[in-house]
Amino acid sequence: MQYQSHKIAQNFYTASVLLFLVQVVVGLIAALQFIWPDFFILNFNTIRTLHINALVVWLLMGMMGATYYVVTEESESELWSVPLAQLQFWATVIAVTAVVAGYIVMGLNPQTNTEIFGTRALNEGREYIEAPRWADVLIVISVLLFLFNCLMTVFKTKKFTAVQGVLLGGLTFLALMYLPGMFYTNNMVKDQFWWWWVVHLWVEGSWEMIAAALLAFMLHKLLGADVKVLAKWMYIETGLVLFTGILGLGHHYYWIGTPEYWLWVGGVFSSLEPIPLLLMVWDAFRTTREVRGVVPNRIGLYLTVAHAIFNFVGAGLWGVIHTLPQVNKWTHGTQITTAHGHLAFYGAYVLLIIAMIYVTLPSIKGVKEFNQSRGFQSFWWMTVSMIFIVIAITGAGMVQTYLERLLGLDYVTVKASYNLWFWIFRALFGVGFLVGVLILVKDILGFGQKPAA
Ligand code: HEM
Ligand code: HEM
Ligand SMILES: [Fe+2]
Repeated sequence: MQYQSHKIAQNFYTASVLLFLVQVVVGLIAALQFIWPDFFILNFNTIRTLHINALVVWLLMGMMGATYYVVTEESESELWSVPLAQLQFWATVIAVTAVVAGYIVMGLNPQTNTEIFGTRALNEGREYIEAPRWADVLIVISVLLFLFNCLMTVFKTKKFTAVQGVLLGGLTFLALMYLPGMFYTNNMVKDQFWWWWVVHLWVEGSWEMIAAALLAFMLHKLLGADVKVLAKWMYIETGLVLFTGILGLGHHYYWIGTPEYWLWVGGVFSSLEPIPLLLMVWDAFRTTREVRGVVPNRIGLYLTVAHAIFNFVGAGLWGVIHTLPQVNKWTHGTQITTAHGHLAFYGAYVLLIIAMIYVTLPSIKGVKEFNQSRGFQSFWWMTVSMIFIVIAITGAGMVQTYLERLLGLDYVTVKASYNLWFWIFRALFGVGFLVGVLILVKDILGFGQKPAA
């Protein structure tokens, strides 16, 4: 290991893949509850909260690990303070464990979610960011410590590289966008209005900026591709992501009580959102065309390109199909949304973090060659299963839209009878996905311990 700081990146990676495992196990429980609603001691609400919070948190932890790695490598120096980064890691782990314990306690006994200082003690509501206010404060402190440490490293070494600029810019934007989810309003419309800032401006703004920076970093590290050319495309991608994504926010303002002009703003800008994602695919292919096959870290390269492709398919295509108000009027909040949510998060961020892990772990562990077959197995188990999960729930969503929204059948009737087979398929492929995650966790935890085959 070249730098002590890399050990911290590795700790974050370990914590994030373990939380990924938790996310998928509870996801499978949620899927079984669609078939047997009484399955398991915790009910669907609690399980679903755990599933999507674990998702967001492990991705954030993965990004932190990746950033500590990138900043160290690009600055050619240890972090400004290694002990501070260590403290930040453990504080994050403790805060996350406490929040999860809180959700479980509340799931077992809802009365425990009492009011303290005008907010709820264990769960604040608001999908994806249910963490209570005390945890929000801890999260903000942790993120500030993290950003401070990274920025101080860059200022200390004065190596202002393009990748660090966009990466840390994206992370600062990410931190700022957490704040609109932290204040309280009695008005439901206003509350939803601000809540979408967090959710949408994260995944379609700041996180995509981070993805563009990490994509450039990985292509450079794997292929030694020209930094100037990579940086140029990274700026174009980032600019377009922000141009289309910020006002694309309007696709969540169609039916929540906001003014009518959002129908236009959301429809027009979000329809353009696939363009930068397609550019990223082109960027990945253009850069790798000539060197494919000669790069030693094949799995790293494979995952990088797969990330670019599935980012476009999941976020871009599965997003654009229901983004026009004329379509969304019928599909809003159905399983079509869920199908898009799965493929977008998987393609854009799950594959991004796993790619970063495989690209950087060899140098963290100081191994030149490693057995790549487990990485490939895990990739295929997960990806094929995810494709079928998405096909199943897209089908369920089409049936749901037709029967519920057009014919007026009741929600539970459609869910419990007409869509039953889709849930069975989803659960089966969920098992396949879990197999992939288990292989991944095993490979990452024991990375480099066995000699390359
Ligand atoms: C990586 C980027 C993206 C991720 C991770 C993502 C994820 C999600 C998730 C999880 C939801 C469901 C939110 C809820 O709980 O209600 C959602 C909704 C939505 N997304 Fe995306 N998305 C991404 C990009 C896009 C893009 C590029 C478009 C358009 C081209 C898009 C269009 C939509 C629309 C229209 C909805 C609302 C669906 C409804 O009305 O129910 N998304 N997205
Ligand atoms: C990396 C893999 C996964 C990602 C990124 C992911 C992501 C998500 C997201 C974003 C949601 C909220 C969707 C929305 O509100 O529209 C969700 C809900 C859900 N997920 Fe996953 N998930 C993954 C794996 C799984 C697996 C393997 C299963 C099990 C088969 C599963 C089952 C579910 C279920 C049943 C829900 C609730 C859907 C609903 O409320 O209609 N997920 N997941
Ligand atoms: Fe959005």
